[in-house]
Amino acid sequence: MQIYKVGGAVRDRLLGKPVTDIDWVVIGATTEEMLAKGFRPVGADFPVFLHPKSGEEYALARTERKSGRGYGGFTFHASPEVTLEEDLIRRDLTINAMAEDDQQNLTDPYHGQRDLEARLLRHVSPAFAEDPLRVLRVARFAARYAGLDFTVASETLELMRQLSESGELEALTAERSWKEISRALMEDQPQVFIEVLRECGALKVLMPEVDALFGVPQPEAHHPEIDTGAHTLSVLEQAARHKQPLTVRWACLLHDLGKGLTPKEEWPRHIAHEHKGLKLIKAVNERFKAPKDCQELALLVGEYHTHGHRALELKPSTLLELLQSFDVYRRPQRFEEFIAACEMDARGRKGLEQRSYPQADYLRGAANAARTVAVQPLLEKGFKGLELGEAIKRERLKALKAYKEAASA
Ligand code: CTP
Repeated sequence: MQIYKVGGAVRDRLLGKPVTDIDWVVIGATTEEMLAKGFRPVGADFPVFLHPKSGEEYALARTERKSGRGYGGFTFHASPEVTLEEDLIRRDLTINAMAEDDQQNLTDPYHGQRDLEARLLRHVSPAFAEDPLRVLRVARFAARYAGLDFTVASETLELMRQLSESGELEALTAERSWKEISRALMEDQPQVFIEVLRECGALKVLMPEVDALFGVPQPEAHHPEIDTGAHTLSVLEQAARHKQPLTVRWACLLHDLGKGLTPKEEWPRHIAHEHKGLKLIKAVNERFKAPKDCQELALLVGEYHTHGHRALELKPSTLLELLQSFDVYRRPQRFEEFIAACEMDARGRKGLEQRSYPQADYLRGAANAARTVAVQPLLEKGFKGLELGEAIKRERLKALKAYKEAASA
């Protein structure tokens, strides 16, 4: 049996990037031999094993053939006769289809090294089409390596286009798609992920609500970039530049979906887009089974981002409602994330990337003012139940009035 390091570990070493996960491929072995050496099988009918000590993944060399639609539709053919070249040819990208032995000798039959130098994401063979998730993977790699000037090869983009049009993407499970989407959003240039998906027609299939924002104008006075799609990409770019967490990045991507529903006659204005967008945000959230914290923040940012921008003009009663909607007393972190998303929205506009956002500190101050209202004195006065709730609200409103007056003095 021969063992080679494959995939991302080889690619990232050649790129001079840190290697975290190491995948191995095993040539000339049977399942029985692996088990006899103490490897633990992953799943019942998958020829992948975990090393007894390191826990790293060792896969038997295999060829894959498609037997039906979607992820379930694979049959695996693993046998000791499958060669390294046969295993590598069924992989997604040439830069992921290199192998290395323990002397760091490279096996590179599909010219991954040449494509690394040319900064090209290129598919290895027509077998690329066996797994439609690869459309998302390529877009994710484009986002990750955009800073190194990588682009998608035109023939690969064409294949991604065909896959997007074939209806195959619809068969992907929510879990697999979300894993790619969430990883892509956490890359340095997540906007490139959306751009590449759009370019190959996958965005229209996966998130038609986001795709619909391109070509929709906004008022130039607030949005020098005009186009709502371009704005969304810039907001995402800012979120990455400011190292925001996944929740904030997800909310940034979805915050303006309502603008895609505005009748053309009303352009470039988007009356009540915040509220109109909620059902679209909900649909996208549910389509990908996004985690609860991502879902919640996206809906709250969608509904209240304009409140965030107008914070300094809001009446104390509206401020109070905003704070209540966020349950800011028990969930301070979520309100911080809302503020961050609003700030990214304000900066994700052409020429305004460096603007200050005094609303952020103002909102933090308002939350603090409302939070400092003590419940104990009200309990001592004998308030209970609903009345107690009302009394706390009155006190918080008083605190917010005082806060607003002090801030504008
Ligand atoms: N692979 C593939 N098609 C997929 C998933 C994986 O061809 N849909 C192959 C690629 O050769 C890839 C390797 O399996 O390099 C390991 O996959 P994975 O660990 O998911 O990705 P990495 O390339 O290691 O990248 P990352 O750094 O994102 O983990």
